Amino acid sequence: MEMENLVSLCKRRGFLFQSSEIYGGLNGFWDYGPLGVELKRNIKDAWWRDMVTGHDDMVPAAGAPRVYEMEGLDCSIIMHPQVWKCSGHYDLFHDMMQTCRHCKKLYRADHVPDMLKRSAWVESFAKVFSAGVSDERIDYSSPDALRWAKDRKRGRRLAPGLALVRNPEATLAGLDADLQAEPEMVLSLPRVLEYVATEQKDSTGLQVPCPECGGDLTEPRDFNLMFETYTGAIQSPENKAFLRPETAQGIFVNFKNVVDSTRVKIPFGIAQIGKSFRNEITPRNYTFRSREFEQMEIEFFCHPDESQEWYRYWRDRRLRWYEELGLASERLQLREHETDELSHYSTGTADIEYAFPFLPDGEFGELEGVAHRGDFDLRSHMEGKLDEKSNPLQVQLDEDGKPKWRGSGKDLTYFDADGFEQAKERLGVKSFKAYMEGRSGESKPGYPYQFTPHVIEPSAGADRATLAFLCEAFHEDEQPDDKGKMQKRTVLKLHPRIAPIKCAVFPLVKKDGMPEVAKEIYRAMKAQFNVFYDEKGAVGRRYRRQDEAGTPFCVTVDGDTLTDKTVTIRDRDSLEQRRVSIDDCLAEIQASVE
Ligand code: GAP
Repeated sequence: MEMENLVSLCKRRGFLFQSSEIYGGLNGFWDYGPLGVELKRNIKDAWWRDMVTGHDDMVPAAGAPRVYEMEGLDCSIIMHPQVWKCSGHYDLFHDMMQTCRHCKKLYRADHVPDMLKRSAWVESFAKVFSAGVSDERIDYSSPDALRWAKDRKRGRRLAPGLALVRNPEATLAGLDADLQAEPEMVLSLPRVLEYVATEQKDSTGLQVPCPECGGDLTEPRDFNLMFETYTGAIQSPENKAFLRPETAQGIFVNFKNVVDSTRVKIPFGIAQIGKSFRNEITPRNYTFRSREFEQMEIEFFCHPDESQEWYRYWRDRRLRWYEELGLASERLQLREHETDELSHYSTGTADIEYAFPFLPDGEFGELEGVAHRGDFDLRSHMEGKLDEKSNPLQVQLDEDGKPKWRGSGKDLTYFDADGFEQAKERLGVKSFKAYMEGRSGESKPGYPYQFTPHVIEPSAGADRATLAFLCEAFHEDEQPDDKGKMQKRTVLKLHPRIAPIKCAVFPLVKKDGMPEVAKEIYRAMKAQFNVFYDEKGAVGRRYRRQDEAGTPFCVTVDGDTLTDKTVTIRDRDSLEQRRVSIDDCLAEIQASVE
């Protein structure tokens, strides 16, 4: 599937527009059009229903260690600045950034090698040495490199900022000198690219070239991804606040409110859907990496002893959710992080990844992360920001030995009242006292009913999920038109639950009482789900328009309807047309879109 065909469909049919397009757009920001907003809303509704409101608190869910409860929240986007200090985002939420000294473009340092591999000028340069873009050794020759640099259609047009193009003789002199000094030197394409981006190796060292114009990039610099703003009239440091970079922290800081205001008992989860903001250095791949996006996050609180089982449950449950809504399992993968990728307080993190079509073959992009976060977050908001490198975790101290960022001081532990009562009953008052004081022979002495819960965090992106469902659904095929001539058809095979329009209703012709009956059916359906009425043009063309919108069913009222009260239902994917009574048609469609 060509990504540009999907992008063009999304614009043409009103799924996605560039933000502020009439002013030239704003990089990293997107608007959902009339069909897009329905699709994304249906995805968020499906998530909320499947994870929260539709969750059965009384029967263990498939694969779950035992029953659990779910609650929801909707927190503010701007929170107390201390939240971000204690969460670690203030100190640690940054990327290394590089700027091109020539065209001024900004890059995330870790994205540059990949971007170079996909750069037009690098591809053209590699061809000079009969090589592809890879890390393997190439048969380098300076005269060939020089010819490429001076060529108006190659180097001079594609890489105007490259040192080799701007000052070829000086640039090549550096490389030739090194080759003379070390004739055995093995040159791979990435190494040659550094040489041809460097005019003065002795003073600057080897440079990294810009994927866009070839200009040299600055050294990587720290760049905090949080958007800053101010509360109140005065823009002073005390009034500085941040747009949240994740929804999760709103859940942690409300943990106690939820426990106190509901009768929820551990294990339980709190879910939230909402906007997050990150000033991404290189927003790219359509909505995949945006600066404003929506997250669907769950913080699941459980007893430390059970946390591994719950981690495995959530990892598998979340993967299944994408499959149930139509993502093909061969394009999905669960990637467990290696031990060296994990913070020591986390005993597991897995990414649910999808083979997005804009990625090279065999590569997958993150859809959702499922992380075992231990008690890091609740303790940080209670005691003060923990030092993530300490083991066991301790509050991070400043030069004066005081907490670097003070926590709330509020008690965010959990008291398991049921467990406490049961143990008292089981042991009797005297032995229970001994047990609590650690004097009994029980395996867990001390005060085991008061603990800081451990957290499992399934964190999904609503925009990434929408993009994955769109990529999966996009198909092009050929189907006969009204005259039997084969025509190219674009169809979005979206799961009926998330399709923006569930059904379209057409009168076959605009006369003989057919529009009246069709409008009656339209009104009856409209009360239940999103339906579209269309009476304009040939019926074949009306079908095509609905195929492009991803509408799973089209209902047509024809001459027979007027006598026998039946209609045809056309199935978008099989193209099968069946006759059913008007009443059955309503019930059937309702059942398949819920
Ligand atoms: N609370 C954990 C957290 O925020 P994350 O891996 O940074 O973890 C979770 O983000 C999910 O949010 C990602 O898997 C992705 O779906 C989505 N996401 C993160 N950054 C994004 C961006 N810049 N644009 C679109 N979606 C993004």
